[in-house]
This record gives sequence, structure tokens and C-alpha cells, in this order.
Amino acid sequence: MTAQYKVHGNVAIITLDNPPVNGLGLATRQGITDGLAKANQDETVTAIVITGAGKAFSGGADIKEFGSPKALQEPNLLSVILAVENSSKPVVAAMHSVAMGGGLELALGCHYRIAAPGCSIALPEVKLGLVPGAGGTQRLPRVLGVEAALNMMVSGEPVKSELLAQLPGQKLFDKLSVSPESLAAEAMAFAQSVAAIRPLPLVRNLPCKHPLGDAYFGFAGNMVKGMSKNYPAPMKCVEAVIAATKQKFDAGMRIERDLFINLMLTPESKALRHIFVADRAASKIPDVPADTPQRAIESIAVIGAGTMGGGIAMNFLNAGIAVKMLEMKQEALDRGVATIRKNYEAQVKKGKLKQDKYDQRMSLLSTTLSYDDLKDADMVIEAVFEEMGVKEAVFKELDRVMKPGAILASNTSTLDLNKIANFTKRPQDVIGTHFFSPANVMKLLEVVRGEKTAKDVLATVMALGKKIKKTSVVSGVCDGFIGNRMIEQYGRQGGFLLDEGCTPAQVDKAMENFGFAMGPFRMGDLAGNDIGWAIRKRRVVEKPNMKYSKTADLLCEKGRFGQKTGAGWYDYIAGKRDAVPNAEVVAMIEAHRQSLGITPRKISDEEIVQRLVYALVNEAAHILEEGIATKASDIDMVYLMGYGFPIYRGGPMNYADQIGLFNVVQSMNKFAQNPLDDAAFWKPAPLLTKLVAEGKTFN
Ligand code: NAI
Repeated sequence: MTAQYKVHGNVAIITLDNPPVNGLGLATRQGITDGLAKANQDETVTAIVITGAGKAFSGGADIKEFGSPKALQEPNLLSVILAVENSSKPVVAAMHSVAMGGGLELALGCHYRIAAPGCSIALPEVKLGLVPGAGGTQRLPRVLGVEAALNMMVSGEPVKSELLAQLPGQKLFDKLSVSPESLAAEAMAFAQSVAAIRPLPLVRNLPCKHPLGDAYFGFAGNMVKGMSKNYPAPMKCVEAVIAATKQKFDAGMRIERDLFINLMLTPESKALRHIFVADRAASKIPDVPADTPQRAIESIAVIGAGTMGGGIAMNFLNAGIAVKMLEMKQEALDRGVATIRKNYEAQVKKGKLKQDKYDQRMSLLSTTLSYDDLKDADMVIEAVFEEMGVKEAVFKELDRVMKPGAILASNTSTLDLNKIANFTKRPQDVIGTHFFSPANVMKLLEVVRGEKTAKDVLATVMALGKKIKKTSVVSGVCDGFIGNRMIEQYGRQGGFLLDEGCTPAQVDKAMENFGFAMGPFRMGDLAGNDIGWAIRKRRVVEKPNMKYSKTADLLCEKGRFGQKTGAGWYDYIAGKRDAVPNAEVVAMIEAHRQSLGITPRKISDEEIVQRLVYALVNEAAHILEEGIATKASDIDMVYLMGYGFPIYRGGPMNYADQIGLFNVVQSMNKFAQNPLDDAAFWKPAPLLTKLVAEGKTFN
């Protein structure tokens, strides 16, 4: 049963009971309409209260039903709300903790609403690329006023009940309870006090106007349009609210419905809904059940206080977990601590961090030069130089000193984690935690599962990732793991494009217009072109026949490593991030092209985007096939959270699915015909061929 029905005296109470947030799935909706019918038939009942069990009134739609026919099956939410409105006995919504989306729309259909203080109220549909679809756009402006309601819809952000209750003239709440604890009793008393009042008040009958009318909507429309560029839903919220002020209620409801259905079909909403599901799916590992026991992690040791070590430490300090950093020399420790201090102080200065929080975080940080001091730590994360010999020495020391059961993690970005694990006598306790730079900022964490990594270690690190607010994605062991293995192919295509006729600026612009935060060359300048250079030097030994453009090597030979040297593919002025095209670099590319005997051709933005994105897709298909990633949606999360892939396109795999894998493969076959490209690479991955043959998608 996901909704309970009880009668107390002459008040019937319908309690939504569908953990974790009382999502309005089919069984719960049915429970509400059944309860209403029972209460209306029961002569002893004079009023009805709807409330939620546990941690919410209701969080809205049941995500388990997302996009499935069940979501529309009768009684759908619109029918439930109509049944509430049509109840011959008054219905009181008793809201606490969370009333969002469909949950708030249900409450708005009730005759009265009483809320506990601290209840988060929101219409967050815009975050899924939608407008509220069960009357929210028509009813909320009637109780909160047009401006407050539109703000809530466009932002999707929750507002606390006690704040909304202060809005002049608000009719969202008839009453605020004294405390969350007293809500139930107060709601029952309130229901009894209004039991005899007729006619029953309905939100739909309230007027809806803005005193400035068109002038206000003109202004609001411009603001929203400017802010919501690639996302259609916020502007549709404006349209829906305009309808609320200009149309009769039922006509407004029809307009809302049309807007909702049309948005459901947009690629942007599909992408956002995909991400919503993908984000939750990332923490689910097929062979590691959710109830796998976890190891307690209350203290962390970090080896290496460099670029990554410091950022990694900050994540744990932020989460209130004690960190001990180890270095070889006191100077290195001092430098590392000073950087952390500087980062926090900048936040304090900007008002983003309170002084006492800052003090508290710094007090959790300690340092040492001796491995013996680490023996009590529950987990250690190594972030020393990227050299196997150094890693070997460190892990042997860790094996010697760490207590049994401690988790030993490496932040290596390219080395074989299985080898590192085997430097210890406890490879089951070894795991990779691949943070992205800057580690205290970037949301992505690739959790690298070695062949011997124990399941409880994996489960513990995934949970820890959540605690430090990362999107954690599991990757198997391979060169580059998921993200960097794919980016190498993307970068290689970028090089071919230069050889064939593009400038770095043209390629970057095409990718930025596609929606990437940064094109490949600006990204190279940010990350440091020397990193790719080092990888290519390794590759030419491993794969002497590998085809690649030498332009990036030529650039590095000039010492143009990127932002850190003030010059890369572009020039940089100290203290600024603007990338200024450099004529010398363009001339270098042209000279190289000439030396290869290539006549440049004009390359369309469409070709640029396709070659770069499909390079990601084809490599990703291999990654999936090899089991390095367990789900296509994990790969999407890696690219969305770690590489600036446009959110509204939902990640490379989702994008390929939307284009159609058949079309993607057709393009790959065409690229393979280009003598200046790498035909071998463009052979579609077997998985891709198989999916096309079966008419399937990645997700
Ligand atoms: P870094 O050079 O900034 O810092 C390394 C630190 O380790 C230095 O402070 C050094 O003194 C210390 N160190 C070296 N050997 C040590 C030892 N035996 N014992 C104790 N401390 C030692 O390097 P960075 O960039 O922080 O990289 C660290 C690790 O993180 C590497 O494995 C790297 O591949 C990986 N990584 C780096 C990323 C980046 O963008 N910089 C991104 C993701 C991973």
C-alpha cells in the first residue's frame, strides 16, 4: 500500500506512503482517489486531510514511472486533482518537509492548505526541460501572485514555507503550523473548523492578474530569454503564466497541457530527463548490491601535497572529514597548506565561506613527513608524481604502515592500477580515485575498479564520493580510463582537422557553438599541451603505425604549453583567460600542411562537430563493449561532469542515440574514406554495428 486511509473522529486522513519522497506513482494516485471515494461515502466523515508519511508531503512524479505509460495511466495526476476539487467534503493538504512538482500541484487542488515551517516548496519541472503539467502554471500564480509564481517556475528552486507565508496577500497557505511535530494535530483541528463551510473554496476560482500586464510580461520574457538560451522550457513557463492571466481557467489548463506535451518531445527535455536518471544510475553497480556493507571512513591521509593532493584534501575538509597530508619535504607541505589556505581565504573574501567554517576546516587538516603517522587513517589517497617507480615505493610503504582494512587509493590518471595494487599484499583494498583538476571544483570522480578490488571497498568509495558531492562513475582499468581514453581520439581528430585546412579558432568556435564549454584547443591550453605531448611520445613507441597530426608536437617544441606558459594554440595575457589567436601558430600549421603536400579545403562546422563528437562515440562504444564502463549513461555522466559536454545534449551517447545510430555509422563510413583521416579508427565498433543491425540505441 502506498497510501493509507484512516479515520480519526470525523476526519479522514489519506497518508501518502511511497518512500523515499511519496512520489505520485500509479498505486499512490489510486490510493488517493480510493480514499476520497471512501471518505465521501462515509457519513461519519466531515472533512479530509491529505498528508505524507516519512520525509515528505510529496516530491512529485514517481521517477520509477518516468516516461513510461504508467505515468499517464488513469487516474493520472490531473484526474486525481480533479477528484480532490470535486470532493463534496473539504480536503485539506497538510504539507511538511517537501512539497514539490506534482506534490505541490496536488496541494493546490485541495480546498485548504496548511504547511509546517521548513517545508520546501517548488515547481522544479524546468530542471527537466518541462513546465509543470498538472495545473501548477495556472494555480500557483492565483495564490502567490504572478511574479513570485513565475520566479519559482523559471528557477525551479525550492523556497521555504515560512518565507512564502510572508508574501503579502498570499493564499498558498491558509495556516502555518507551529512546528512540524504539531502539523498533524493542527491539520485535523483545522479540517474540523472548516467542515461546514460551503461553497468549498477552489484555487481555480481565484482571479489572476498582474497590475502591469503586458509591460511586466514583456520585461520578464526578455529576462528569461536572455538567461535560458539553449533551453526552451523557461520561456514556455512565461507563456503558460500569460495564459493564466488572459484565459479562463480551463482554457489555460489546455494551453499548459499543450506546452507540456510539446516540451516532452524536445531533445533538451529528453537530455535533461536522461541526465536525471543517469545521475542516479551511476551509483548502481550491477554486481555490487545496494546493501553491500561499507567500511567506516572518518579520517583520510593524502600522499603528495601538489596540484591534486591539495584539491583532494579540500573535498574531505569541506565534508568535515579529518585529513593528514604527507610529503617528502617540509617545504612541499608548507606550500600545499598555503595553497589550501589561499583557496579558502578567497572564498571567505567573496562571502562564500563563513570565517568559523574556514577555521573549522583548517583545524581538520594536519601534516606529516612520516608514514608511521598514517597508521590510524581509514583511507589513504596517493597523488604523487605519475611514475610507476614512485607509486611502487609509496604503495610498499603504505602496505607496511596502514592498519588492516584501510582503503588504499591512487589518483593515477594513466598508470595500470592492477600493477599498483600488486605492489601491496592487499590488492583487494586498492582502488583508483581519479579526480579531475581542480579537484576541489570539478564534479566528476572516476572510481577505478581494479581486477581484485573488493566489493565493499568499491561500495565505500562510491558512498564517500556522494559525501564529498561528486558524481562518481565506475571505470575498469585501461589506459586513460573512460574520459581520457575518449578525449585522446577527440584530440586526434582535432589534429587532422588542422592538417586538412582548419584553424584552431575555427574548430573551437564550431564546438563552442555546439555547446561545449571550450573547444579542444582552448581546452588543451588550459590543461597543458605538454600532457598530450607526453602521451603521444609513449604512443609512438607502443603503436608505431598510429596516424596522428604532428602539429601539436611542433607547438610543444616551441614551448607553447598553454595558459601556464602564457602561450599555446593561442596567446594569453597574464591574469586573463581570453584566448587570442596567434599568427605565428597559424603560419606554423600552414607550413606543416604544405610540407605534407596538402591543399587546404574549407571544412564545415557540421563536419567538425561530427568528427569530434563521433570520435568520442566510437571510442565509447569500444569502452562499453570491453566492460570498462558498465552503462552508456555512465559515459554520458563522465562527459557532462568532467569535460564540458553540453548539458542540453545529454552526453555523447544520448546525443548519438538522438541523431540515430544508423546515421552516426553512415557518417563514420564516410569519414573512413578521407585519405587524410584514420580509416582504421573509423571502423565502427562492433557494438555500434550490432545496435544498428538490431535497431537499438545505447541507452
Ligand atoms: P604535482 O607534481 O603537482 O604534485 C605531486 C606531489 O607529490 C609533489 O608535491 C611532490 O613533492 C609529491 N611527491 C612526489 N613523490 C612523493 C613521495 N614519494 N612521497 C610523498 N610525496 C611525493 O602532481 P599532480 O598534478 O598533483 O599529480 C599527482 C597525481 O595525480 C599524478 O598521478 C597525476 O597523474 C594525477 N592526476 C593529475 C591531474 C592533473 O590535472 N594535474 C588530473 C588527474 C590526476
